[in-house]
Amino acid sequence: MLPSIVSSEIPGPNSKQLAQRLQRVESPGLTYLSADFPIFWEKSSETNIWDVDGNCFLDLNSAFGVSGIGHCNDSVIEAITIQAKELIHGMGDVHPPKIKVEFMEKLLDLFPPQLDQAILSCNGSDACESALKTAQVYTKKPGVIAFEYGYHGLGYGALDLTHKPHFRSKFTERLTEYTFHVPYPNSYRNGSSAGEQSLNFIKEVFHKNKELIGSVIIEPIQGRGGVIVPPTGFLKDLKEFCEENNLLLIFDEIYTGFCRTGKMFAFEEEDVLPDIICVGKTIGGGLPLSACITSSEIMNSWDKSNGEAIHTSTFLGNPLVCAAGLAVIEDLQKNNWHQKNKELGEYLKNKLTELNCEFIGEVRGKGLMLGMELVKDKHNKEPFPQLAEHLMVESLKKGLIVLTCGSQGHTLSFSPPFTITKEEIDFAVNEFSEILKTFIQQNQEDNL
Ligand SMILES: Cc1ncc(COP(=O)(O)O)c(C=O)c1O
Repeated sequence: MLPSIVSSEIPGPNSKQLAQRLQRVESPGLTYLSADFPIFWEKSSETNIWDVDGNCFLDLNSAFGVSGIGHCNDSVIEAITIQAKELIHGMGDVHPPKIKVEFMEKLLDLFPPQLDQAILSCNGSDACESALKTAQVYTKKPGVIAFEYGYHGLGYGALDLTHKPHFRSKFTERLTEYTFHVPYPNSYRNGSSAGEQSLNFIKEVFHKNKELIGSVIIEPIQGRGGVIVPPTGFLKDLKEFCEENNLLLIFDEIYTGFCRTGKMFAFEEEDVLPDIICVGKTIGGGLPLSACITSSEIMNSWDKSNGEAIHTSTFLGNPLVCAAGLAVIEDLQKNNWHQKNKELGEYLKNKLTELNCEFIGEVRGKGLMLGMELVKDKHNKEPFPQLAEHLMVESLKKGLIVLTCGSQGHTLSFSPPFTITKEEIDFAVNEFSEILKTFIQQNQEDNL
């Protein structure tokens, strides 16, 4: 459904009032409150969000990439409603709910047979921490190579992998010296040899710290870092390097997984099978569900539980969440979303490229995971975060929810629900075009 703004301003009066109430009760470090932000959500359906002022928005972000199969998906609602009447909570690793087994079997069926065991969890951060610990118990080495501007969550373990100084700087004393960050291959900024350059950094870091490093963790498309797609062949070369040096290769597919990039998983694009995969977001259909998946050979390095698991959590395998997960898997398979996302992604990418504006440095991405990098100058590629923010704020006023990402917040990220239509895409891109035109006009007048 196309957006419809009915309040005289965005955020509307009810959102503003809620912002004041929230300010009193929530730590100031969380929700960003300003004259332009946020709108408070009241209900949702497929690609749309309604706020507390009756405005209808088009969600071009899937609420952080979560609502892939659409907000309040009917089959998810039905599954959790039925499950809620039977069993809402189980004892994840002591007396587990039956549905946990059913969900894990269906989840693992989506992967090649060698990836046959999993650890369930709630957040992406938890899944990365499971991967980190699994790699440690298997390799007996604490060191990990991770990537600059990679995002793996903010729990202390995951934060160790996450790179952006913004997230780390207050906690550096508590972070370890075992994560080695290297540049993510970025062809837009570093040219056609970006992959080779990145691999050289990896080799250098590894050879200096061989006795420490046991694994490499990478997002197959870097999401929050700016929707950066590595050059073709890079992931294959990385896999080869890992194999030659007995390193475990971990793919963080929390954003890319479950059809978003036009494949069920991004690793399928180049047929590079990692040793460990982290998944989350889309799989829960809006409920908190994540998993770390690997082979039984690697999982067996965990000692058999003696009754007190050394890695678990209270809500692991929660029945309600597993019911949602099963409904999502069925929906993904029934709807062939990977194929549709590939086609629709191309459509959106072409439309964004056709904007052909002097401040758009690059439009990139795969499937429905796209980014539009904004620069002040196409030649020196100086980031333009002010324009990205302007677009985000002005789009919201037109009923479009988009977020910024990238090293300096200068990229607009598009990861809409798979239910988005061409008509909705046309509407959104037309609005961006108008906002950009007005911005350019204003810019010219200011320079006169
Ligand atoms: C690639 C990736 N890994 C991990 C995370 C962390 O997930 P969560 O916020 O659920 O802990 C995110 C969140 O955006 C992500 O994009």
